[in-house]
Amino acid sequence: MQGTSDARQTMESQDELHGGVVRQRGNVMGKNIQEQNNGSNETTPEPNKELSPTSSKGSSVVLILLLLMVGITWGIAATAYFGVVDYKVLVARSSSISTSDMTSCMSLIYPTNYPFVRRPLKTFGSLLIDIDESLYNLFIAKEQASYIDKRRSVAMVTPYNRITFSIKETEKVVTERGEPPVMSQDNQPSKEGETTNENMKTADKDERDNTLKQTEGKVKVKDTAQDPTKSKNSTPKKTKKPTTKTTDGTVPKKKKNPPDPLTSEKDIPILKQLREAEKLLKSKQAAKAKAAYQKLVSSNPESPMARFGKAESLFQQAEQERSNKLLQECIQAYNEVAELATCPPALKKKALLTKAERQTFLGHLRAALLTKTQLARDFPNDEKVLNQLGVAYLMIGQNDKAKQVFETVLDIHPGDGFALVHLGFIIKIKGDWMKSIEYLLPGVTSLEEGTQEGKFYFHLGDALYRTNRTKEADEIYKLGAERGLFRSKFQRSLYNVERLQSRPFWTPQQAKVVDYVKKLEKNWKTIRDEALKMMDVKKGLFVNEDENLRNTGEWRQFTLYQRGKKDAACSRVPKTCSILEQMPNAVGCTRGQVKYSIMMPGTHIWPHTGPTNCRLRMHLGLVIPTTGDGVRLRCADDIRTWEEGKVLIFDDSFEHEVWQQADTFRLILIVDVWHPDITKREKRTLTPI
Ligand code: LMR
Ligand code: MN
Repeated sequence: MQGTSDARQTMESQDELHGGVVRQRGNVMGKNIQEQNNGSNETTPEPNKELSPTSSKGSSVVLILLLLMVGITWGIAATAYFGVVDYKVLVARSSSISTSDMTSCMSLIYPTNYPFVRRPLKTFGSLLIDIDESLYNLFIAKEQASYIDKRRSVAMVTPYNRITFSIKETEKVVTERGEPPVMSQDNQPSKEGETTNENMKTADKDERDNTLKQTEGKVKVKDTAQDPTKSKNSTPKKTKKPTTKTTDGTVPKKKKNPPDPLTSEKDIPILKQLREAEKLLKSKQAAKAKAAYQKLVSSNPESPMARFGKAESLFQQAEQERSNKLLQECIQAYNEVAELATCPPALKKKALLTKAERQTFLGHLRAALLTKTQLARDFPNDEKVLNQLGVAYLMIGQNDKAKQVFETVLDIHPGDGFALVHLGFIIKIKGDWMKSIEYLLPGVTSLEEGTQEGKFYFHLGDALYRTNRTKEADEIYKLGAERGLFRSKFQRSLYNVERLQSRPFWTPQQAKVVDYVKKLEKNWKTIRDEALKMMDVKKGLFVNEDENLRNTGEWRQFTLYQRGKKDAACSRVPKTCSILEQMPNAVGCTRGQVKYSIMMPGTHIWPHTGPTNCRLRMHLGLVIPTTGDGVRLRCADDIRTWEEGKVLIFDDSFEHEVWQQADTFRLILIVDVWHPDITKREKRTLTPI
C-alpha cells in the first residue's frame, strides 16, 4: 500500500484541527481526498466518581500488602530502570466485570504512567492481556503501586463499584540488571509513526497475538532503546537456542510445522507452482505473476491460493500501471477468493480485509463498509475485523455506529489499544473531554498498532488541558514530538511539508510579504470601514466560530476567501477584496483563508493549533481596544498584542491562545499566505485545507 497511498492529508471543512476524524480516499491516479468529519458538541457528562470500597476491602488489603512487599523486594533494583521497577501482577477479577468497568479502572491507574514517559512505555499501556476468561495481567511500576496504595478506592472499585481485584501472583518483568523491561517487539509503533486508519499494517496481528498469548509471562524481550520509536532501525539480537535433549540424551526430531492456516487442501497439489508464481510477485513482475496465477486458476479453479495470488498480482499491476480498472478487477478477484467453498477462514479474512482496503483506497467507502460488515458477520469476535468495521463507520461519518463497534471490541478484548484510541477520539470530538481521556490515555500508551497517530495525541493533550491537567497535557505533547508525530511540542499541525523553516512569529521580510504588508497597512481604514458597515447592516455575515475552540465569550468570523476560492460574500466588501486580489499568495492559498474576525470582551480561546505548516497567518489590526486588561495573542511562549493599522505575522501551526479582556469588541482581518518556502509546484498540487 505504501507505494500508492498518498501521505498527504488534508482537512476539508476546518480551519483548525479540533474535532473530526480524517477520512481518506484516493485512487490509483494519485488523487487523494480527505474529508473532515465534524463532531458535534455536547455537554460534558458527569465524570467518573470515585466510590468508596465496600465489598472489596479484604482484597484491597491483600493487594496493597502484596504491592508493598514487591515494592520493597525490588526497590533496590529500581535505580537500574530509570528509577522505576516494574512488576507483572496477575489479577483475578471477582465476578462479572464489564469491559468498560475494566477500562475505567485501568485508566484511573494509567495517569501515573507518563511522568515516566521517557522510559519504555511498553510496560504500561494496554497490558491488560486476557489470559483466560478470568485473569488479567497488569504491569505496574513501583510508583503505580504506591499510587494504588494511596488511592485504593480508585484502583479497586470502578465507577460502578463492581470490580474487586485480588492478586494471584507477581513477577518481576526484567531479564538482566540494567535492561529496561519491555513487551515484545510486536508492540512497536508503526515504522513511520504515520499509521492511518486505512492502512493494513496490522495484517499479521492475529499471528502475533497468538504468540503473545503463548509466551505471555515467560518471554521478556529487551528494548533496543529508551525511545521505542527509535528501535525501529535496530534488529533484535539473535540468541542461540540451546539444543533440547530428551532424557535419554537423543536430540528430538524436529517438530513438523503446523499446517498453514491460509492454505487449503486444494492448494496442496500445486504448491510448487504457487511458489514459482509468488517469486514473480515478489520480484515485482506483476504481469508475469498475474499470467502465472491465472493459469493456475484455470487448471485449479478451487485453489484459494491461486485466486488470492491473482488478486495480489492484479493489485501490483494496478499500482505499476496506475490503473483504476485493474484495481476494480483486483477487488473482484479478492471477492472470488472469499466466495470459494474451499477457502480457509484465515484466508477469507485476509482476502476480505484486503478487498476493503482497496475499496477504501478507491474512495468506495460504502462498499468497504459492506465488505467489513460481511466480515464481521463471519468473524464476530475478531477484534481486528471489528476495529476495521469501526473505522469504516467513522469514514462515512457514522460515529455513533463506530462507537458501538469499538465498545463491542472492548467488551470482547479489554484493553485493545486500537479500539481505545478510536473510542476515545469519538468521545472527545463529541465534547466529553473527561471521559475521552479514560480511553485515549491507555490507548495511546498501549503503543499498539494504529494507536501512534498524531490525532490521538493531539486530542488527548487537548482533553487533558481542558480538564485542568495541563502538566500531563504538556507531557503528551512532548511525547508526541519525541515520537515524531508533531514537529515540536508546540507545533502540532498534522498536514505538513517537512522541510519548511518554522518559528512562531515572523517579520514581513522573513515571510517575504513586505509588499502585502505595505498594502494592507496603507489601506487598513478602507478595510476596517467596509467590515464595520457590514457589522451594522448585515450582522449575519459574521458567523459563530464552530470549531469548539472557544472556552468563554463570543467570537465571530466573516469569511472572504477559503482554500484559494473567493466567497460570494466578497461582493459585500468590494474594496477590501480588490485590495486582496493583488495578493495571489494570499487569495490563492489553498491551505488558508481570508476572514474578518471579531471577538467580544470576556472571550478566551483555548490553546489550539492550525492544521498545516504550509501557511503563515497575517493579522491586520482594525479595531483594537486597550481598555481593561486589553487583548492578547500567545503563540508558543511569546505573548503579543495587535495594533490598529499594523500587521502581525505568526505561524498558526504553533499552539496559540487568545484573551479578550477589554471593554469593547476587537476586530482584525486574518490573511493567510503561503509559507515562503512552499514551491510553485506545491502551491498547485497540495490538497486544499
Ligand atoms: C486565531 O487565528 O486562532 C486567532 O488568533 C484568531 C483571532 O481572531 O484572534
Ligand atoms: Mn487559530
